[in-house]
Amino acid sequence: MYTQALNVPESGTAVDAGDADKAARFQAIVDREDKVEPNDWMPESYRRTLVRQISQHAHSEIIGMQPEGNWITRAPSLKRKAALLAKVQDEAGHGLYLYAAAETLGVSREELYEQLLSGKAKYSSIFNYPTLTWADIGAIGWLVDGAAIMNQIPLCRCSYGPYARAMIRICKEESFHQRQGYEIMATLCGGSVKQREMAQDALNRWWWPSLMMFGPSDKDSLHSSDTMRWKIKRFSNDDLRQRFVDATVPQGRHLGLTFPDPELRFDEQAGHWQFGEIDWAEFKRVLSGDGPCNRQRMQVRRELEADGAWVREAALVYARKQTERNSAAKIAAE
Ligand SMILES: [Fe+2]
Ligand SMILES: [Fe+2]
Repeated sequence: MYTQALNVPESGTAVDAGDADKAARFQAIVDREDKVEPNDWMPESYRRTLVRQISQHAHSEIIGMQPEGNWITRAPSLKRKAALLAKVQDEAGHGLYLYAAAETLGVSREELYEQLLSGKAKYSSIFNYPTLTWADIGAIGWLVDGAAIMNQIPLCRCSYGPYARAMIRICKEESFHQRQGYEIMATLCGGSVKQREMAQDALNRWWWPSLMMFGPSDKDSLHSSDTMRWKIKRFSNDDLRQRFVDATVPQGRHLGLTFPDPELRFDEQAGHWQFGEIDWAEFKRVLSGDGPCNRQRMQVRRELEADGAWVREAALVYARKQTERNSAAKIAAE
């Protein structure tokens, strides 16, 4: 569903003198917009930055299944249930593409899971908020997937080939997610007073956390010059956040909704929607593990990991038997 701009590269990009030629060739590939592929030489800090960013992104996709999975059995109609089920399955797929992309950088999936389960790796803080009503499913699709698209479209042009290619498919699916969310909101806003109130309440609760998805303000976001130079990142956190606000505010107003920000106003001269200050203390608190659902999300993830152990073991034994059978058949045929 989402990548959060909280990723920062390892500090420093210094290379040994012997690597200077390789580094120059690497940067030339990046500068001419070619893709860096798994077997190409790359600076260690580039590799580490990508492993962290892609794995955080993968973790966010699979943890992001939880708040919405919570409503699959309570969807208000068969049509809504089918769409939500498809969306949550898409998020599992996004996690798989991204774990696979991270593995091309020489890290194992088990290692990445372990980092998530031990709390060492982060995932997007937005998924630590609860889904209290059905309208939250609309708000998540509209706002959270909408913010994800804003973050992820530029990643389709990321310099690292496997990540960029995974993002192309993911973005296509995210756009369906965003539309199904907006359509839920539109239906509620065209319904009874109670339904409109539900939609408004969901917007009130999800608006600010959605803006936090773009990460710290540029003035507090260190280390972004490396990721820009490497063309992992193309736009700053604040630029992307502004784009999201400019795209989303007219959509909400079209539905007759009010944004929970008294400072929100259109600046004619700048051509942008100006908005109030984000509560960065809340952002840091939720990110550091003290949000409304952090413990619950991790506990569920650990239980699912343990419950699925027998499936993974059985699949491995089956794969091994198949390989043995195939090689036995090959020997017999020779
Ligand atoms: Fe999504
Ligand atoms: Fe996704």
